[in-house]
Amino acid sequence: MTPHGITSDVFLAAQVLEEGGIIGMPTETVYGLAALARNEEAVHRVFDTKGRPRNHPLIVHLSPESDIHRWGIFNETAQKLADALWPGPLTLLVPRTSIVPDWVTGGRDTVAIRIPQHPIAQQLLSIVNDGVVAPSANRFGKVSPTSALHVASDLGETVDLILDGGRCEVGVESTIVECTETFQILRPGQVSESEISQVAERSVSSLSGPSRAPGMLESHYAPNAKVVLVDSIDEVQAVIGGLEPSIKNSVINYDDANEYAENLYDDLRRADANNVAVVIAVRSQDSGIGVAVNDRLAKAAALR
Ligand code: TXA
Ligand code: MG
Repeated sequence: MTPHGITSDVFLAAQVLEEGGIIGMPTETVYGLAALARNEEAVHRVFDTKGRPRNHPLIVHLSPESDIHRWGIFNETAQKLADALWPGPLTLLVPRTSIVPDWVTGGRDTVAIRIPQHPIAQQLLSIVNDGVVAPSANRFGKVSPTSALHVASDLGETVDLILDGGRCEVGVESTIVECTETFQILRPGQVSESEISQVAERSVSSLSGPSRAPGMLESHYAPNAKVVLVDSIDEVQAVIGGLEPSIKNSVINYDDANEYAENLYDDLRRADANNVAVVIAVRSQDSGIGVAVNDRLAKAAALR
């Protein structure tokens, strides 16, 4: 293990979880702060370590071979999405079963479930063979981590271990789809609105206005730097031209939306590490994963 508590020993990581510990865990979206869902004390430690209010519900992560029906009640739409898109960067919000504890859902009658695609995440989940909660492994309201070092720099000694799975390929959190009486996207991610509608064979609505998923506050994913959003390079130049010369700035701009998602959080973190005062970000395309990038950019730029 490195001085940061980072290891690539998945068996050790599983053992720490089984003994009631909390660990940083890789997924294809972002790193999670993992604990066994059915261990109340460990789950409470996850909330406290993040500084997150205990009534903000957590996602239960399962291995591909687990029985999803033990945890949630899947209507026809939910089942289609699960069959076609799991494992993957997709979270389904469904009515919960009686084995899902109140401390995971904040007492709600629904549960958020995800089967991740990341091979090391899958290995870990298969070994522990139980539900694992994993909110993003950042301090509450801050930028999500996309590498083991990000987790170490945010949470350091407060976690028992960090399992290294390399850089996250997707880079933004999973798409959350509510499949209850309502069918809607609560949080955009790599799995797009059109893909979901196509698989479900019915059209999904997207949440607009104040989010219904608790924890999706206006200001979220926020670096220390002020974030200014623009639509073109010309506008970047105009913003820079209007700044006092002493104000340190940086620019985030990617033509490719996948590349944007993969690098966004790392870029925001680097800006903070370099004491940048103003980040000027050029919005991504308004389709595919660009929708998720623009959602996180808007939250990073929201007034706090
Ligand atoms: O990609 C991801 O989903 C990552 C990785 C680690 O899997 N996890 C993640 O977890 O983003 P977290 O806790 O940062 O975000 C989960 C979101 C929260 O906004 C929470 O409010 C919502 O899911 N959520 C979870 N359970 C819910 C429920 N029962 N009802 C409504 N919203 C729920
Ligand atoms: Mg989060």
